[in-house]
Amino acid sequence: MLSVKNIHQYYGGSHILRDVSFEAHAGKVTVLLGRNGVGKTTLLKSLMGLVPIKSGSIEFDGVPIHKKTPYDRARAGMGFVPQGREIFARLTVEENLRMGLAYKSGSTPVPPELFEVFPVLKQMLNRRGGDLSGGQQQQLAIARALAPNPKLLILDEPTEGIQPSIIKDIGRVIRMLAERGDMAIVLCEQYYDFAQELADDYLVMERGEVIARGLGKDMEAQGVRQLVAI
Ligand SMILES: Nc1ncnc2c1ncn2[C@@H]1O[C@H](COP(=O)(O)OP(=O)(O)OP(=O)(O)O)[C@@H](O)[C@H]1O
Ligand SMILES: [Mg+2]
Repeated sequence: MLSVKNIHQYYGGSHILRDVSFEAHAGKVTVLLGRNGVGKTTLLKSLMGLVPIKSGSIEFDGVPIHKKTPYDRARAGMGFVPQGREIFARLTVEENLRMGLAYKSGSTPVPPELFEVFPVLKQMLNRRGGDLSGGQQQQLAIARALAPNPKLLILDEPTEGIQPSIIKDIGRVIRMLAERGDMAIVLCEQYYDFAQELADDYLVMERGEVIARGLGKDMEAQGVRQLVAI
């Protein structure tokens, strides 16, 4: 589904991503771990085309996409839940969900299944995004990314600053989406237990490089908890 090969990225003179390669497959959760500032968000933004890469390639569904715009990548089926959620505070929940459909034709409805996944959003359709709790905003950000029915869902630290009960709900949703079998999920996380529970495959980054990788079920035995401990 997603194949990233040897990508390098710079912010000005700082070499941030160093020869990063990995794959993400349909029906699997690929977890990206690493301490603060190692380049996780930069990698995810590079996948979406929000920051340019200097070299390397990104293929999605067999097609090179690393020269395409973020808009084209979204149209191709890549969905992104940014770190910090980036909800439009003054727009309603419904309007935020419609933003997720902005590149589809004007009449595309918000899929009703989204409200089965996140029932709380149905009750709050007319409420402003800025008036939701952090956890509800995170659910809204995930729902917004799911609205156009992406083939790949990329999530950047969805548990950051969220209360435990909603973290559990979000974990269940991610597992359910993976089990459907047709969507690949890339999950960047610093909350180790959450990451380990969901990971089919994992990668650990340090200073812009992938320093460890393997199967989720082997994470504990391979000492990943210690690698990312703060
Ligand atoms: N727009 C930018 N311009 C210059 N440097 C940046 C920019 N954004 C990030 N950086 C630097 O790039 C490095 C990687 O940042 P990045 O946000 O990708 O890390 P991260 O792993 O997502 O961290 P966190 O866990 O805190 O979210 C850091 O040293 C950061 O200071
Ligand atoms: Mg980050």
